[in-house]
Amino acid sequence: MTVKYKFPEGFWWGSAASATQMEGAAKEDGKGLNIWDYWYEKEPTRFFDGVGPEVTSDFYHQYKEDIKLMKEIGHNSFRFSISWARLIPGGIGQVNKKAVEFYNNVINELLSNEIEPFINLFHFDMPLELQQKGGWESREVVDAYAEYSKICFELFGDRVKRWFTFNEPVVPVEGGYLYDFHYPNVVDFNRAVQVAYGTMIANAKAIKEFKALQLEDAKIGIVLNLTPSYPRSSNPADLKAANIVDLFFNRSFLDPAVRGEYPSELVEIIKREGLVPEMLEGDKQLLKENTIDFLGVNYYQPRRVKAKECMPNPAAPLMPDNFFDYYEMPGRKMNVYRGWEIYEKGIYDIAINLKENYGNIEWYISENGMGVQDEERFIVDGRVEDNYRIDFVKDHLTWLHKSIEEGCNVKGYHMWTFIDNWSWSNAYKNRYGFIQLDLKTQKRVIKKSGYWIKQVSENNGF
Ligand code: BG6
Repeated sequence: MTVKYKFPEGFWWGSAASATQMEGAAKEDGKGLNIWDYWYEKEPTRFFDGVGPEVTSDFYHQYKEDIKLMKEIGHNSFRFSISWARLIPGGIGQVNKKAVEFYNNVINELLSNEIEPFINLFHFDMPLELQQKGGWESREVVDAYAEYSKICFELFGDRVKRWFTFNEPVVPVEGGYLYDFHYPNVVDFNRAVQVAYGTMIANAKAIKEFKALQLEDAKIGIVLNLTPSYPRSSNPADLKAANIVDLFFNRSFLDPAVRGEYPSELVEIIKREGLVPEMLEGDKQLLKENTIDFLGVNYYQPRRVKAKECMPNPAAPLMPDNFFDYYEMPGRKMNVYRGWEIYEKGIYDIAINLKENYGNIEWYISENGMGVQDEERFIVDGRVEDNYRIDFVKDHLTWLHKSIEEGCNVKGYHMWTFIDNWSWSNAYKNRYGFIQLDLKTQKRVIKKSGYWIKQVSENNGF
């Protein structure tokens, strides 16, 4: 392979995954229930083809083989999440020894294969008992999370040097409290703001615990899905709409995480609309003093917006969309299976924004990927020939490379995901992996993109 785009030395090549989406063994070895186990039991029809999270790709039992495959496709790093409900069933109290053993085994297996483990503490999977106590609306839960984070740092911090407090914390807010695609299926802007705020207090508390332990060479960050907002036009009404979207969905987490405070424009809107969350004395200082060391950015799609066309229905609940409309740009390139636009330059725009407005903080692409339905139709001689995925990655990496040449502080590129996995309400509809999973036999086969990324990783470029 001739290398046109060379990446900085030590660049992280790998992928990300999450506990609920890959572990399986949902009721084994003392794991407690989380909201996904519970919601699936209650409403299986909300999941594609009625498939729930009990088995997924069975990483709990097959981690050794999977880590071998990661090595085979050139991973030098891998992000996974700890299942809070597995480590501490019920979320508070006794640590589950079997879980400690499992996560120790995974970490040690990764390290012995020269794959650096990155650990994320929370990927959408609130222990059920803590959701019943109010989830992120409850300070008891926020404190329980801080305790859980401390336990993880103490248990695994001798070997794990890259930590994340949350993956895409805006998603449980959107899904669980606004748009009805996560449990607890609440539609309430006030409560959504409280949940978002509680999450960032939890983030700061975990960072405080982390710093107190002074783990050698270790860093802590957060993973945000920074979805750039593009206005339809330069009309001031469209610009205003795009700015509000950016405040609601990006800066509501990015600013407190990196700068330790909320943007004043956002605070004004929240006050004006009567959405101010309950805050405690000391919160402001806590946020200010406990910012992240580095950032993970998940990038899938842009958000195109325009000024609102019609007056919102006064009888309908207040929603973020009362302030803007989504805009379908003519000619946009789509991933039709997921319904997401593909816009590679978005990655570059994020990089420049972080460089210019967020102190050029150290960051990496913690997720990027393409879910495709019915991938079996691309099988030739037993292997998925996913040329579309290779093109997708190439096009994004080209823009990422350009941003590095312009001085952006990018440390790596992780794909979503290693092996086809269970996707929340979409279950196994769309396949994302470098490795194909046969759901019936649990057989794993490396796709063409897996062999391609191996070369990219070995050459540190393409
Ligand atoms: C990210 C999440 O939002 O996107 C993953 O961190 C998720 O958990 C991925 O699986 C792809 O989205 P989806 O909904 O197609 O699974």
